[in-house]
Amino acid sequence: MQLQNDLLLRAAKGEKVERTPVWLMRQAGRILPEYRAVRESVSGFIELAQTPELAAEVTIQPVDLLGVDAAIIFSDILVIPEAMGLPYEMVEKRGPWFPNTVSSEEDLKKLRIADGANDLSYVIKAIEITKKNLNGRVPLIGFAGAPWTIFAYMIEGSGSKTFSKARAMLYRQPDFSHRLLQMITDSTINYLKAQIEAGADLIQVFDSWAGILGPDQYEEFSLRYISQICDAIKEVPKTVFAKGAFFAREAMGKLNCETIGLDWNMGVAESRNLIGANKTLQGNLDPAALYGSPEQVRQATQNMMKQFRGSRHIANLGHGVYPDIDPEMVKVFIQTVKEFR
Ligand code: CP3
Repeated sequence: MQLQNDLLLRAAKGEKVERTPVWLMRQAGRILPEYRAVRESVSGFIELAQTPELAAEVTIQPVDLLGVDAAIIFSDILVIPEAMGLPYEMVEKRGPWFPNTVSSEEDLKKLRIADGANDLSYVIKAIEITKKNLNGRVPLIGFAGAPWTIFAYMIEGSGSKTFSKARAMLYRQPDFSHRLLQMITDSTINYLKAQIEAGADLIQVFDSWAGILGPDQYEEFSLRYISQICDAIKEVPKTVFAKGAFFAREAMGKLNCETIGLDWNMGVAESRNLIGANKTLQGNLDPAALYGSPEQVRQATQNMMKQFRGSRHIANLGHGVYPDIDPEMVKVFIQTVKEFR
Protein backbone atom coordinates (compact mmCIF):
# COMPACT_ATOMS: atom_id res chain seq x y z
CA MET A 1 0.00 0.00 0.00
CA GLN A 2 1.36 3.39 -1.07
CA LEU A 3 1.51 5.87 1.84
CA GLN A 4 -0.04 9.28 1.22
CA ASN A 5 2.12 10.85 3.93
CA ASP A 6 5.52 9.20 4.28
CA LEU A 7 7.32 12.20 5.83
CA LEU A 8 8.25 10.16 8.93
CA LEU A 9 9.90 7.41 6.91
CA ARG A 10 11.74 9.79 4.63
CA ALA A 11 12.96 11.87 7.59
CA ALA A 12 14.11 8.70 9.36
CA LYS A 13 16.12 7.65 6.32
CA GLY A 14 17.63 11.10 5.89
CA GLU A 15 15.82 11.76 2.61
CA LYS A 16 14.48 15.13 1.54
CA VAL A 17 11.27 16.31 3.25
CA GLU A 18 9.03 19.31 2.52
CA ARG A 19 8.59 19.86 6.26
CA THR A 20 9.53 18.17 9.52
CA PRO A 21 7.19 15.31 10.51
CA VAL A 22 5.65 15.40 13.99
CA TRP A 23 4.11 12.87 16.39
CA LEU A 24 4.05 12.48 20.17
CA MET A 25 5.24 9.66 22.34
CA ARG A 26 2.21 8.29 24.23
CA GLN A 27 -0.20 10.09 21.88
CA ALA A 28 -2.62 7.14 21.88
CA GLY A 29 -4.57 7.16 25.10
CA ARG A 30 -3.91 9.41 28.03
CA ILE A 31 -4.94 12.85 26.82
CA LEU A 32 -7.98 12.41 24.60
CA PRO A 33 -11.54 12.39 26.00
CA GLU A 34 -12.39 10.18 23.01
CA TYR A 35 -9.87 7.63 24.33
CA ARG A 36 -11.37 7.70 27.81
CA ALA A 37 -14.82 7.06 26.35
CA VAL A 38 -13.58 3.88 24.63
CA ARG A 39 -11.59 2.90 27.73
CA GLU A 40 -14.72 3.18 29.88
CA SER A 41 -16.59 0.76 27.63
CA VAL A 42 -14.28 -2.07 28.83
CA SER A 43 -12.90 -3.30 32.16
CA GLY A 44 -9.61 -1.47 31.81
CA PHE A 45 -6.38 -0.92 29.92
CA ILE A 46 -5.54 -4.60 29.45
CA GLU A 47 -8.90 -5.56 27.96
CA LEU A 48 -8.67 -2.55 25.65
CA ALA A 49 -5.16 -3.51 24.51
CA GLN A 50 -6.31 -7.11 23.96
CA THR A 51 -9.35 -6.19 21.87
CA PRO A 52 -7.86 -5.58 18.40
CA GLU A 53 -10.81 -3.55 16.99
CA LEU A 54 -10.73 -1.16 19.95
CA ALA A 55 -6.93 -0.97 20.06
CA ALA A 56 -7.00 -0.05 16.37
CA GLU A 57 -9.66 2.60 17.01
CA VAL A 58 -7.66 4.39 19.73
CA THR A 59 -4.48 4.07 17.65
CA ILE A 60 -6.11 6.08 14.87
CA GLN A 61 -7.76 8.70 17.12
CA PRO A 62 -4.68 11.00 17.29
CA VAL A 63 -4.37 10.91 13.50
CA ASP A 64 -7.98 12.07 13.09
CA LEU A 65 -8.16 14.41 16.09
CA LEU A 66 -4.66 15.87 16.35
CA GLY A 67 -3.26 15.63 12.83
CA VAL A 68 -0.01 13.81 13.67
CA ASP A 69 2.18 12.42 10.89
CA ALA A 70 2.27 8.88 12.33
CA ALA A 71 0.19 6.47 14.35
CA ILE A 72 1.73 4.31 17.10
CA ILE A 73 0.06 1.02 17.85
CA PHE A 74 -1.92 1.03 21.10
CA SER A 75 -0.31 -1.54 23.36
CA ASP A 76 2.30 -1.51 26.13
CA ILE A 77 5.93 -2.49 26.56
CA LEU A 78 4.87 -4.93 29.29
CA VAL A 79 3.17 -7.35 26.90
CA ILE A 80 6.60 -8.98 26.46
CA PRO A 81 7.01 -10.21 30.05
CA GLU A 82 3.44 -11.46 29.86
CA ALA A 83 4.15 -13.37 26.64
CA MET A 84 7.23 -14.86 28.33
CA GLY A 85 5.07 -16.16 31.18
CA LEU A 86 5.03 -13.26 33.64
CA PRO A 87 1.59 -11.60 33.56
CA TYR A 88 1.03 -8.00 34.68
CA GLU A 89 -1.92 -6.02 35.97
CA MET A 90 -2.58 -2.34 35.47
CA VAL A 91 -3.59 -0.84 38.80
CA GLU A 92 -5.78 2.24 38.47
CA LYS A 93 -3.78 5.45 39.15
CA ARG A 94 -0.70 3.46 40.22
CA GLY A 95 0.52 1.78 37.07
CA PRO A 96 1.78 -1.70 36.25
CA TRP A 97 2.10 -4.46 38.84
CA PHE A 98 3.40 -8.03 38.49
CA PRO A 99 1.94 -10.60 40.91
CA ASN A 100 5.09 -12.70 40.35
CA THR A 101 8.63 -11.47 39.75
CA VAL A 102 11.91 -13.13 38.72
CA SER A 103 14.55 -13.75 41.36
CA SER A 104 15.75 -17.37 41.15
CA GLU A 105 16.86 -20.03 38.68
CA GLU A 106 13.48 -21.66 39.19
CA ASP A 107 11.69 -18.46 38.15
CA LEU A 108 13.88 -18.27 35.08
CA LYS A 109 13.08 -21.87 34.12
CA LYS A 110 9.38 -21.04 34.09
CA LEU A 111 9.91 -18.34 31.44
CA ARG A 112 9.96 -18.94 27.71
CA ILE A 113 11.10 -16.99 24.68
CA ALA A 114 7.98 -15.40 23.20
CA ASP A 115 7.37 -16.07 19.53
CA GLY A 116 5.49 -12.88 18.65
CA ALA A 117 2.94 -13.94 16.10
CA ASN A 118 1.24 -16.50 18.39
CA ASP A 119 1.96 -15.26 21.90
CA LEU A 120 1.05 -11.69 20.98
CA SER A 121 -1.52 -12.39 18.29
CA TYR A 122 -3.85 -9.68 19.67
CA VAL A 123 -1.24 -6.96 18.96
CA ILE A 124 -0.56 -8.42 15.53
CA LYS A 125 -4.29 -8.42 14.74
CA ALA A 126 -4.59 -4.83 15.99
CA ILE A 127 -1.76 -3.81 13.63
CA GLU A 128 -3.49 -5.49 10.68
CA ILE A 129 -6.80 -3.74 11.42
CA THR A 130 -5.06 -0.40 12.00
CA LYS A 131 -3.20 -0.63 8.70
CA LYS A 132 -6.41 -1.42 6.88
CA ASN A 133 -8.33 1.44 8.51
CA LEU A 134 -5.51 3.97 8.16
CA ASN A 135 -5.68 3.18 4.48
CA GLY A 136 -2.23 4.63 3.82
CA ARG A 137 -2.88 8.01 5.44
CA VAL A 138 0.23 7.93 7.67
CA PRO A 139 2.85 5.33 8.65
CA LEU A 140 2.26 3.06 11.63
CA ILE A 141 4.94 2.81 14.32
CA GLY A 142 5.44 -0.52 16.08
CA PHE A 143 7.36 -0.63 19.34
CA ALA A 144 8.84 -2.59 22.21
CA GLY A 145 10.63 -1.83 25.45
CA ALA A 146 14.41 -2.14 25.53
CA PRO A 147 15.54 -5.34 27.26
CA TRP A 148 16.99 -3.46 30.26
CA THR A 149 13.72 -1.58 30.92
CA ILE A 150 11.69 -4.80 30.63
CA PHE A 151 14.19 -6.61 32.90
CA ALA A 152 13.78 -3.81 35.46
CA TYR A 153 10.00 -4.37 35.64
CA MET A 154 10.33 -8.17 35.70
CA ILE A 155 12.72 -8.08 38.68
CA GLU A 156 11.11 -5.18 40.52
CA GLY A 157 7.48 -6.11 39.91
CA SER A 158 6.31 -2.50 39.53
CA GLY A 159 7.55 0.99 38.84
CA SER A 160 10.12 2.35 41.29
CA LYS A 161 12.17 5.50 41.82
CA THR A 162 15.46 3.62 42.13
CA PHE A 163 14.76 0.13 40.74
CA SER A 164 17.18 -1.04 43.42
CA LYS A 165 16.15 -4.72 43.23
CA ALA A 166 16.86 -4.76 39.51
CA ARG A 167 20.15 -2.92 39.94
CA ALA A 168 21.16 -5.16 42.85
CA MET A 169 20.65 -8.11 40.50
CA LEU A 170 23.20 -6.69 38.04
CA TYR A 171 25.84 -6.61 40.81
CA ARG A 172 24.96 -9.84 42.64
CA GLN A 173 24.06 -12.09 39.71
CA PRO A 174 25.51 -10.69 36.49
CA ASP A 175 25.39 -14.05 34.66
CA PHE A 176 21.78 -14.64 35.63
CA SER A 177 21.00 -11.07 34.53
CA HIS A 178 22.60 -11.66 31.16
CA ARG A 179 20.62 -14.86 30.62
CA LEU A 180 17.33 -13.12 31.36
CA LEU A 181 18.30 -10.12 29.22
CA GLN A 182 19.10 -12.48 26.33
CA MET A 183 15.70 -14.18 26.65
CA ILE A 184 13.97 -10.79 26.62
CA THR A 185 16.05 -9.74 23.60
CA ASP A 186 15.19 -12.87 21.62
CA SER A 187 11.50 -12.44 22.49
CA THR A 188 11.62 -8.78 21.47
CA ILE A 189 13.22 -9.53 18.11
CA ASN A 190 10.53 -12.14 17.38
CA TYR A 191 7.84 -9.70 18.45
CA LEU A 192 9.15 -6.77 16.38
CA LYS A 193 9.53 -8.99 13.32
CA ALA A 194 5.90 -10.10 13.70
CA GLN A 195 4.81 -6.44 14.00
CA ILE A 196 6.68 -5.60 10.79
CA GLU A 197 5.22 -8.63 9.04
CA ALA A 198 1.75 -7.36 10.04
CA GLY A 199 2.45 -3.89 8.62
CA ALA A 200 4.45 -1.73 11.07
CA ASP A 201 6.37 0.80 8.94
CA LEU A 202 8.97 1.81 11.53
CA ILE A 203 9.80 0.50 14.98
CA GLN A 204 10.82 2.31 18.14
CA VAL A 205 12.61 0.81 21.14
CA PHE A 206 11.82 2.58 24.45
CA ASP A 207 14.56 2.40 27.08
CA SER A 208 12.64 4.39 29.67
CA TRP A 209 14.95 3.45 32.57
CA ALA A 210 18.26 3.93 30.77
CA GLY A 211 19.14 6.89 32.96
CA ILE A 212 19.40 4.93 36.22
CA LEU A 213 22.47 2.98 35.07
CA GLY A 214 26.01 4.30 34.99
CA PRO A 215 27.85 4.42 31.65
CA ASP A 216 29.72 1.09 32.02
CA GLN A 217 26.67 -0.85 33.18
CA TYR A 218 24.60 0.79 30.48
CA GLU A 219 27.02 -0.45 27.85
CA GLU A 220 27.09 -3.98 29.29
CA PHE A 221 23.47 -4.54 30.32
CA SER A 222 21.50 -2.37 27.92
CA LEU A 223 23.24 -1.13 24.81
CA ARG A 224 24.64 -4.57 23.98
CA TYR A 225 21.09 -5.94 23.71
CA ILE A 226 19.63 -2.91 21.92
CA SER A 227 22.45 -3.38 19.44
CA GLN A 228 21.40 -7.01 18.85
CA ILE A 229 17.85 -5.82 18.16
CA CYS A 230 19.05 -3.14 15.73
CA ASP A 231 21.22 -5.66 13.89
CA ALA A 232 18.40 -8.21 13.66
CA ILE A 233 15.77 -5.85 12.24
CA LYS A 234 16.59 -4.97 8.66
CA GLU A 235 13.13 -4.54 7.16
CA VAL A 236 12.15 -1.05 8.38
CA PRO A 237 13.79 2.04 9.93
CA LYS A 238 14.51 1.82 13.66
CA THR A 239 14.39 4.47 16.39
CA VAL A 240 16.08 4.08 19.77
CA PHE A 241 14.88 6.32 22.60
CA ALA A 242 16.90 5.93 25.80
CA LYS A 243 15.57 8.31 28.42
CA GLY A 244 18.36 9.85 30.48
CA ALA A 245 21.20 8.14 28.61
CA PHE A 246 23.08 11.38 27.94
CA PHE A 247 26.34 9.55 28.71
CA ALA A 248 25.72 7.00 25.94
CA ARG A 249 25.02 9.38 23.06
CA GLU A 250 28.34 8.80 21.33
CA ALA A 251 27.91 5.02 21.53
CA MET A 252 24.32 5.31 20.33
CA GLY A 253 25.59 7.11 17.25
CA LYS A 254 27.21 3.79 16.29
CA LEU A 255 24.03 1.70 16.61
CA ASN A 256 22.64 0.14 13.49
CA CYS A 257 19.53 2.35 13.53
CA GLU A 258 18.30 5.42 11.64
CA THR A 259 16.97 7.61 14.46
CA ILE A 260 17.98 8.44 18.03
CA GLY A 261 15.38 9.98 20.36
CA LEU A 262 16.54 12.82 22.62
CA ASP A 263 14.97 13.72 25.93
CA TRP A 264 14.68 17.40 26.87
CA ASN A 265 17.75 17.35 29.11
CA MET A 266 19.95 16.65 26.12
CA GLY A 267 21.22 19.73 24.30
CA VAL A 268 20.56 19.53 20.57
CA ALA A 269 23.91 20.85 19.27
CA GLU A 270 25.88 18.76 21.74
CA SER A 271 23.84 15.66 20.87
CA ARG A 272 24.41 16.23 17.17
CA ASN A 273 28.16 16.46 17.78
CA LEU A 274 28.24 13.29 19.85
CA ILE A 275 25.88 11.25 17.65
CA GLY A 276 27.15 12.48 14.28
CA ALA A 277 25.48 13.65 11.08
CA ASN A 278 24.33 10.21 9.89
CA LYS A 279 21.40 9.77 12.22
CA THR A 280 18.02 11.46 12.40
CA LEU A 281 17.34 13.00 15.82
CA GLN A 282 13.85 12.84 17.32
CA GLY A 283 12.47 15.13 20.01
CA ASN A 284 12.81 16.95 22.23
CA LEU A 285 10.45 19.59 23.65
CA ASP A 286 10.02 19.43 27.43
CA PRO A 287 6.58 17.75 27.89
CA ALA A 288 5.84 20.34 30.61
CA ALA A 289 6.14 23.14 28.02
CA LEU A 290 2.59 22.15 26.98
CA TYR A 291 1.29 23.46 30.33
CA GLY A 292 1.97 27.00 29.06
CA SER A 293 -0.33 29.41 27.22
CA PRO A 294 -0.81 28.91 23.46
CA GLU A 295 1.69 31.70 22.83
CA GLN A 296 4.24 30.11 25.16
CA VAL A 297 3.75 26.71 23.51
CA ARG A 298 4.29 28.32 20.10
CA GLN A 299 7.45 30.08 21.28
CA ALA A 300 8.89 26.98 22.94
CA THR A 301 8.15 24.84 19.89
CA GLN A 302 9.71 27.33 17.49
CA ASN A 303 12.74 27.54 19.73
CA MET A 304 13.09 23.77 19.66
CA MET A 305 12.65 23.66 15.87
CA LYS A 306 15.37 26.32 15.37
CA GLN A 307 17.86 24.20 17.24
CA PHE A 308 17.35 21.26 14.87
CA ARG A 309 17.19 23.38 11.73
CA GLY A 310 19.23 22.15 8.81
CA SER A 311 19.73 18.60 10.04
CA ARG A 312 17.79 15.33 10.04
CA HIS A 313 14.87 15.74 12.47
CA ILE A 314 11.54 14.21 13.56
CA ALA A 315 9.67 16.55 15.92
CA ASN A 316 8.38 15.09 19.18
CA LEU A 317 8.40 15.75 22.90
CA GLY A 318 11.38 14.71 25.02
CA HIS A 319 9.23 12.00 26.67
CA GLY A 320 5.61 10.86 26.60
CA VAL A 321 2.87 13.51 26.72
CA TYR A 322 1.61 13.94 30.29
CA PRO A 323 -1.95 12.70 30.92
CA ASP A 324 -3.33 16.05 32.13
CA ILE A 325 -2.18 18.09 29.12
CA ASP A 326 -4.94 19.97 27.28
CA PRO A 327 -5.30 18.42 23.80
CA GLU A 328 -5.64 22.00 22.44
CA MET A 329 -2.04 22.66 23.49
CA VAL A 330 -0.95 19.48 21.73
CA LYS A 331 -2.61 20.86 18.61
CA VAL A 332 -0.72 24.15 18.98
CA PHE A 333 2.53 22.16 19.22
CA ILE A 334 1.70 20.13 16.10
CA GLN A 335 0.51 23.15 14.10
CA THR A 336 3.62 25.14 15.01
CA VAL A 337 5.87 22.33 13.76
CA LYS A 338 3.86 22.04 10.55
CA GLU A 339 4.08 25.79 9.85
CA PHE A 340 7.78 26.10 10.74
CA ARG A 341 10.02 27.00 7.83
O1 CP3 B 1 2.48 5.79 22.62
C1 CP3 B 1 1.31 5.40 22.66
O2 CP3 B 1 0.37 6.17 22.78
C2 CP3 B 1 1.04 3.91 22.43
C3 CP3 B 1 0.78 3.17 23.58
C4 CP3 B 1 1.79 3.02 24.71
C5 CP3 B 1 1.36 2.74 26.03
N1 CP3 B 1 2.45 2.50 26.77
C6 CP3 B 1 -0.05 2.69 26.46
C7 CP3 B 1 -0.38 2.84 27.89
C8 CP3 B 1 3.19 3.03 24.72
C9 CP3 B 1 4.17 3.31 23.59
C10 CP3 B 1 3.60 2.68 26.04
C11 CP3 B 1 5.01 2.54 26.43
C12 CP3 B 1 5.36 2.36 27.84
N2 CP3 B 1 4.65 1.72 28.82
C13 CP3 B 1 6.58 2.78 28.39
C14 CP3 B 1 7.69 3.45 27.59
C15 CP3 B 1 7.45 4.88 27.32
C16 CP3 B 1 7.62 5.80 28.50
O3 CP3 B 1 6.64 6.49 28.81
O4 CP3 B 1 8.71 5.84 29.06
C17 CP3 B 1 6.57 2.42 29.74
C18 CP3 B 1 7.68 2.70 30.74
C19 CP3 B 1 5.36 1.75 30.01
C20 CP3 B 1 4.91 1.11 31.29
C21 CP3 B 1 3.63 1.67 31.75
N3 CP3 B 1 2.39 1.44 31.15
C22 CP3 B 1 3.39 2.51 32.87
C23 CP3 B 1 4.47 3.02 33.82
C24 CP3 B 1 2.01 2.79 32.93
C25 CP3 B 1 1.23 3.55 33.98
C26 CP3 B 1 1.33 5.00 33.87
C27 CP3 B 1 1.13 5.59 32.49
O5 CP3 B 1 2.14 5.76 31.84
O6 CP3 B 1 0.00 5.84 32.06
C28 CP3 B 1 1.41 2.14 31.82
C29 CP3 B 1 -0.03 2.17 31.48
C30 CP3 B 1 -0.40 2.63 30.12
N4 CP3 B 1 0.24 2.27 28.96
C31 CP3 B 1 -1.49 3.45 29.79
C32 CP3 B 1 -1.49 3.60 28.40
C33 CP3 B 1 -2.49 4.34 27.56
C34 CP3 B 1 -2.50 4.04 30.80
C35 CP3 B 1 -3.42 2.95 31.23
C36 CP3 B 1 -4.87 3.36 31.27
O7 CP3 B 1 -5.46 3.82 30.28
O8 CP3 B 1 -5.41 3.11 32.34
